[in-house]
Amino acid sequence: MRRSHQPDQEVTTFNWHVIKMLVPYLLEFKLRIGLALLCLILTKIASVYLPFILKDIVDILDTQQDNRIYLVPFALVAAYGVVRLAIVLFAEIRDTLFGRVTERAIRRIGLKVFKHLHQLDLDFHLNRQTGGLSRDIDRGTSGISFLMRFMVFSVVPTLIEIVMVVSILFVNYGIWFAVITLASIVFYVVYSVYATNWRTKYIRAANKADSSSNTRAIDSLLNYETVKYFTNEAYEASAYDNQLADWEKAKMQNRLSLFALNGGQAVIISMSMTAMLALAAYEVTHENMTLGDFVLINAFMMQLFIPLGFLGFVYREIKGSLANIEQMFTLMAKKAKIEDAENATELTLAKGDISFQGIHFAYQEERQIIKDLSFKVPAGHKVAVVGESGSGKSTLVKLLFRFYDAQQGEITIDGQKINAVTQHSLRKNIGIVPQDTVLFNESLFENIRYGNTDATQAEVNEAIKLAHLSAFVESLPKGVETVVGERGLKLSGGEKQRVAIARTILKNPAILVFDEATSSLDSHSEQAILKAIKEVAQNHTSLVIAHRLSTIIDADNIIVLHQGELVEQGNHKTLLSNESYYYRMWMLQQNNTN
Ligand SMILES: Nc1ncnc2c1ncn2[C@@H]1O[C@H](COP(=O)(O)OP(=O)(O)O)[C@@H](O)[C@H]1O
Ligand SMILES: [Mg+2]
Repeated sequence: MRRSHQPDQEVTTFNWHVIKMLVPYLLEFKLRIGLALLCLILTKIASVYLPFILKDIVDILDTQQDNRIYLVPFALVAAYGVVRLAIVLFAEIRDTLFGRVTERAIRRIGLKVFKHLHQLDLDFHLNRQTGGLSRDIDRGTSGISFLMRFMVFSVVPTLIEIVMVVSILFVNYGIWFAVITLASIVFYVVYSVYATNWRTKYIRAANKADSSSNTRAIDSLLNYETVKYFTNEAYEASAYDNQLADWEKAKMQNRLSLFALNGGQAVIISMSMTAMLALAAYEVTHENMTLGDFVLINAFMMQLFIPLGFLGFVYREIKGSLANIEQMFTLMAKKAKIEDAENATELTLAKGDISFQGIHFAYQEERQIIKDLSFKVPAGHKVAVVGESGSGKSTLVKLLFRFYDAQQGEITIDGQKINAVTQHSLRKNIGIVPQDTVLFNESLFENIRYGNTDATQAEVNEAIKLAHLSAFVESLPKGVETVVGERGLKLSGGEKQRVAIARTILKNPAILVFDEATSSLDSHSEQAILKAIKEVAQNHTSLVIAHRLSTIIDADNIIVLHQGELVEQGNHKTLLSNESYYYRMWMLQQNNTN
């Protein structure tokens, strides 16, 4: 299994509409947001005020050479310390306040996506790649967190600061200082955005090389046994090293492009700093400005350009985050193909009569699977469906559970069309032991109790006994607490099927469906299970899909499917005397003594 990975998508434009979609989730804590913004403004006022204190200190130190009043400069230095502390404190308070807002939004959105995914149809889930899906969600939620951090804590404060500083420079020192600052910032921003866009391809190449080498390594380790069987360790190592070499090269190009970006930024910063300080020095020598003013201007410049240094990175991250969030929202916008009818009612079960009427069904238009199929499962009866593999037996179960809608015909339960009742009430009333049972990677106990999450310990134990699992459970060192491994891979097929039977016993629905429920069992345990099934199925309507005909001899009616068509029906005896499909299948299986 080679895992494919999605290429990072091209991010060219800013998706402003994503922010609009996010806003409702952020408004849950209005007071918090208000306070956080207040802190933000306070931080900025304090940090713009700081250079003024510095200026006063320098000016006083400069003018009072023989002054004995030491107190004033020291008071100012103390004030400088206090304001600096205030800046950090306000910023911390702001982060703390806002963190909660972000996390709540992530929680709300995460839950919404999760619920939505469970609501989508089986077809969607069969076609998706779970790995890719969970990466989309991961990247979407961390995108929200990034976006908030960079927008609220980096871009907006920097903008506020730029406006304040440029106005102060303009008012206090005239137009030229303001113009130089503004021009260099504009130049700097344009350059950063441009250079960042240019180097995106190198970053992407490096990321891609990183994940392909990772994928290669993981895949190789997953196939550990195959590698050993074919003694291909050296082959695997050289394939991995090739990937690593690509990664190394991509990383180098990436670093060079970063050097170009940072170098260019440094040139712009140095030039504008020099211009500002030269202008300030000129004004000082002509006594239009004090030494303190010179220091103040230097401090302003430093303060402005430090946050701007991150601009390229922040710009790229925000763009990437917006694209990731959008991807997640796209997932939420996906509509389920199977939905409850607008006026759907609850299924009310009287006796459990099932009827399939003129069903035509195809997964894909070109390939008809079920053709004009009609049959009934009268309440309390056991009806079996047999037919070769691929004849559409499991498909009937999927239609009954309404994982798909038939293109023609209708299925009714006690006279109610299954697409007129809610999916929840429909599925609640049907129990199934599926062909392939997949388990959660939890304890055996939890897996069995999944049939009824409210069941007591005693009820679970009873179900274990009825499903003939007791001996197996007792043989396990950890008993019912044994963890079954991913998808239940640590259990044998037969054990998994018995877990599925135990689950269904706990669910205790009126209608039971067994889809080749005993196919993975040896004849001995099969007999035991069949007995259990018989006990459980008593007084229930049951639809039994069987591969081994010997297991359904006692069925009230047997439906024989051939390529999606009903070709024969009747009980075991009549079907044998027909000497047709069923008879041939029966003879074949008798000879194979399975
Ligand atoms: N989700 C699906 N999409 C397309 N074809 C499918 C899908 N599921 C099953 N099929 C096809 O439908 C046919 C009937 O499948 P199924 O009902 O599982 O057969 P069986 O009688 O062995 O249970 C098979 O040929 C199978 O390949
Ligand atoms: Mg099947």
